[in-house]
Amino acid sequence: MSDLVLDLTVNGDRQRVLVRSNTTLLDLLRDQLGLTGTKAGCDIGDCGACTVRVDGEPRLSCITLAAEVDGRAVTTIEGIGGPELHPVQQAFHEHVAAQCGFCTPGFVVNLVALFEEHPDATDEQITEALGANICRCTGYTKILAAAQQARDAQKAPS
Ligand code: FES
Ligand code: FES
Repeated sequence: MSDLVLDLTVNGDRQRVLVRSNTTLLDLLRDQLGLTGTKAGCDIGDCGACTVRVDGEPRLSCITLAAEVDGRAVTTIEGIGGPELHPVQQAFHEHVAAQCGFCTPGFVVNLVALFEEHPDATDEQITEALGANICRCTGYTKILAAAQQARDAQKAPS
């Protein structure tokens, strides 16, 4: 194992970090950069709680080595929304879809990426995308309703 210096962008900020060669992106974000919105669930790539975006693509940060994101742009839940909630966050709020909240960042990150690529995502595409994330505490009814509202809100003429 060796130390590596990485240069990356996280939520729009340039970062230079020193990591071990076996450090995961999840550990880099949570332990070194203090971005604890990204959750550690299964730690084996099954639950989606750790989902972030790397150059726009959803990635499971628990099974991504930090070294893989050298020179790339990472977006975490902290980088979504701003003064105003993102439409996906707003819909989760209105539908009380953040139930215990543990899985919520992963769902939101995944849905934001889906709707950027497919603004007209069908219910089937939404359901398929949600399959990448596990909610263990309550269920998917409110999460699905929130996702559908977020899709419809972004399609509505402003
Ligand atoms: S913590 Fe990464 S997929 Fe579960
Ligand atoms: S809201 Fe509790 S695990 Fe999904």
